[in-house]
Amino acid sequence: MFETLEMAPADPILGLTAAFKQDTNPDRINLGVGVYKDGDGNTPVFNSVQRAEARILDRQTTKDYLLISGAPEYAAVVQALLFGPEHEIVTGQRAATVHAPGGTGGLRVAGDFVHKLYPEAKIWLSDPTWANHPNIYAHAGVAVETYPYFEMETNDLDFDAMRDALKNVPEGDVVLLHGCCHNPTGIDPTPEQWEEIADVAGARGWIPLVDFAYHGLGDGLEQDRRGLMAFCRSCAELMVSSSFSKNFGLYNERVGALTVVASTPEAANALMSQVLICIRANYSNPPAHGAAIVTEVLNDSGLRPQWEDEVAQMRNRINRMRALFVDTLERKGVRRDFSFIARQRGMFSFSGLTGRQVDALREEYAIYMVGSGRINVAGITEANIDYLCESIAAVLRRS
Ligand code: LMR
Repeated sequence: MFETLEMAPADPILGLTAAFKQDTNPDRINLGVGVYKDGDGNTPVFNSVQRAEARILDRQTTKDYLLISGAPEYAAVVQALLFGPEHEIVTGQRAATVHAPGGTGGLRVAGDFVHKLYPEAKIWLSDPTWANHPNIYAHAGVAVETYPYFEMETNDLDFDAMRDALKNVPEGDVVLLHGCCHNPTGIDPTPEQWEEIADVAGARGWIPLVDFAYHGLGDGLEQDRRGLMAFCRSCAELMVSSSFSKNFGLYNERVGALTVVASTPEAANALMSQVLICIRANYSNPPAHGAAIVTEVLNDSGLRPQWEDEVAQMRNRINRMRALFVDTLERKGVRRDFSFIARQRGMFSFSGLTGRQVDALREEYAIYMVGSGRINVAGITEANIDYLCESIAAVLRRS
């Protein structure tokens, strides 16, 4: 049966990492997958995480299964971080949270229960969006539509087109919005634009699904919640898929969450019971370790400020690299205006480089970026910036 199978294409993001690892060029640079690098080009374990892990290992007595939903203490810290501990959604018990394996797990669980309970509902994705979004919903069996997002001429949000499209999304459909640090463009709505989008959601009756994978990497932990808070104000029902891969550096622990908000505690409980059936049929119950780390850090008055500081350092370094990238391209004689990169937020920017230029950078200079021209700014360091910008300048000169 398997002999006639053809090779599937490599994943457009993770496939790049596999190719990068085989590249022997000593100057190689990986600007593909969204993984943070420090100034030395490493992806270190946070100090707050190391301290939490030591404590957890010290007191651990069992590896017994967790509940299907994960540890209740983890659900509590996730909700407090998303909404604030005193928010009415939390105190009124209108939210239910499951620990999902990474943000991808949360998005997939949402797709599974939408497909099961609301088979007619579609999920609307921004154009462009993270390459895995359409993939996740195709596999969950949910039909996908797109709404406009990016204006190529100005390298900015095409807000009018976005808002107008969202006004036409039918009641009961789901609209996926990037909570902050839009992947791949690095462009987010302003606070005022978030309020307008949230008003549209409330008026039209579609359900926001906020993909919140980069909380803290944009403008700050508080500021990055502005979009989510706008939806909490205007919509009685919403979903949030959050991730601790980036803001805790816990990539391979697969620690994320799906939080569903309903209009009453009873509705939230019923929804949760349906979500649990989807999880049981998929991965049964979540892995424990990453969630235990997050819970320990967020609940500890010593570890939490240290973690917040580590997130701020990461955010500040990324923003410094944005400015350095723009300056260095100019110094290397690139005439094209790349100043938009300094205005964007989070790990990613849409560089505007074409597929052919991306291929040339990879094949001739061992610089890896996603085919769409998306670059992971967090992969730029002071050590690789000159080589990177000289290579881009050389490729642009002959285009
Ligand atoms: C990315 O967009 O690079 C990250 O979200 C990692 C991934 O799984 O694709």
